[in-house]
Amino acid sequence: MLTHIFLISALTAACNCLENGLARTPPMGWLSWERFRCNTDCLNDPDNCISERLFQKMADLLVSEGYASVGYEYVNIDDCWLERYRGPDGKLLSDQRRFPNGIKALSDYIHSKGLKFGIYEDYGNYTCAGYPGIIGFEKIDAYQFAEWNVDYVKLDGCYALPYDMDRGYTEFGKLLNSTGKHMVYSCSWPVYQIYAGIPPNFSAIQSHCNLWRNFDDIQDSWLSVENIIDYYGNNQDVIAPYAGPGHWNDPDMLIIGNFGLSYEQAKTQFAVWAILAAPLLMSVDLRTIRPEFKEILLNRKIISVDQDPLGIQGRRIYKHKGIEIWSKPISPVYQSFYSYALAFVNRRTDGTPSDISVTLKELGLINNSGYRVEDLYENIDYGILFPRTKIKVKVNPSGVVMLKGQIKF
Ligand code: GLA
Repeated sequence: MLTHIFLISALTAACNCLENGLARTPPMGWLSWERFRCNTDCLNDPDNCISERLFQKMADLLVSEGYASVGYEYVNIDDCWLERYRGPDGKLLSDQRRFPNGIKALSDYIHSKGLKFGIYEDYGNYTCAGYPGIIGFEKIDAYQFAEWNVDYVKLDGCYALPYDMDRGYTEFGKLLNSTGKHMVYSCSWPVYQIYAGIPPNFSAIQSHCNLWRNFDDIQDSWLSVENIIDYYGNNQDVIAPYAGPGHWNDPDMLIIGNFGLSYEQAKTQFAVWAILAAPLLMSVDLRTIRPEFKEILLNRKIISVDQDPLGIQGRRIYKHKGIEIWSKPISPVYQSFYSYALAFVNRRTDGTPSDISVTLKELGLINNSGYRVEDLYENIDYGILFPRTKIKVKVNPSGVVMLKGQIKF
């Protein structure tokens, strides 16, 4: 026992990092920002404004519509939940008209549904939308979040100095930990440094944050999804090695079911996000989502690619003339051979499906006893295929075919 305690404290001393034991697989849930933004007009738009009613409703639907049962568990508030000023004791105040029962009551409600509760703040003087930031109040705020039983904190980086972030994000993570309440810590630390021309220290970021944003905010368009896909493909050698259980690159929210993506494009976003071992945070109106988009978000086979316990971020292994192949090593592993999830993405716009023909060997599936290959969207089982087998897929414009090759024991 003593040795055990000694080992833990030695580890903490050596690592001096987050060690909160959370996010062993990428977090899954719902986040308000992309779809509901900073709509504070509850007078004219009571159903869509950032208010306790919106989050309660989304929590209800996560459970009643089956999202919770496939793994979506966090209900996360983004910006615009605060009053413009702190209370006289320096504490954060939620907007009194829009959150009349206060944050603790909302947190209790969400927990009563068996879900977890997330909140948003900003390391700087203000949040991106101009509400009070945490600078100068770090300790009060960390303890306030713990008192509210918050499970997840997204800490943005507007109105802050990017050079200070190495220190500031680290210190706030430690403060969160010191409360004794374990909270997933989502950082925007690298993205603001990249914008400022400072190369981020990813090994520090990885050891202090459970997830972090690297690139632009997602918007409701295919172009935005494509830009993110390109960023992750073009920068994979730098960023992919830092992903793993407890710490993830965050390409931003899922916009599936909103206005900007076609059905094919929505399938592509979900497939590529799963290959990237991305956090799966839906930002969609769960009251009105169309069934075909809901079905994508509930695809258990693809979710389990994202949630694979090995936690390896996949990579773009081929890119030529608008055709891309993305590959993620997943479990089970047999005699040091991985299984794989594969996404064949067609970025072309000539309006007919493109054929992709490739041997398993060319995809890196080289184990001679073979792989059981199945299509993860179409429920087609191809049986056992071998490295020399040539597979042929037809991929729709801006669409995807997603396969899994499970190693044969
Ligand atoms: C930044 C973040 C977004 C969102 C907004 C809120 O732009 O990157 O994800 O949180 O701020 O104002």
